Amino acid sequence: MSLNHQLASALWMSASPDLAAAIGKVPFFSGLNDKQLKAMASTGRVRTYTPESKIVEEGTIGVGFYLVLDGRAEVRKGAKLLATLSKGQFFGEMALIDREPRSADVVAVQPTTCFVLSVFQFDNLIRDDPKIVMSMLTEVVRRLRKAQSSSVS
Ligand code: CMP
Repeated sequence: MSLNHQLASALWMSASPDLAAAIGKVPFFSGLNDKQLKAMASTGRVRTYTPESKIVEEGTIGVGFYLVLDGRAEVRKGAKLLATLSKGQFFGEMALIDREPRSADVVAVQPTTCFVLSVFQFDNLIRDDPKIVMSMLTEVVRRLRKAQSSSVS
């Protein structure tokens, strides 16, 4: 069964083994064991977005952490395109970590499926698993380096 089919079925089944398996294929969660994956699948939700939907809006209060399972989304600040995110990449962590407003818009540019954790689930995830924190930190540092190199005029 393809990842898309697994996700489509998972939309109808909370905490399904299909969703746990789909999440386990995402590198970000690959360090989790079966029990942790099932727990994760049972707490999060799968959401789909049509092209041009604003998934996250700059300046608003953050209530979700998003992992792209399929599709593509752009991180935009005003007219500036900061990044393009696709399968396996995450967004929405900044506002949940520092409790400041969303730093940018994130807009679907294709039909996009995300696995979404609430702020409470996100707090539990990062409190319980240092490997996930390290994986997230490594990606955030990569994004910072990229932003530094592109901001030099
Ligand atoms: P948050 O501020 O919660 O909401 C907008 C999200 O866009 C932010 O979290 C990050 O996940 C993401 N984001 C912001 N700036 C960048 C960037 N320069 N590169 C990649 N992603 C970004």
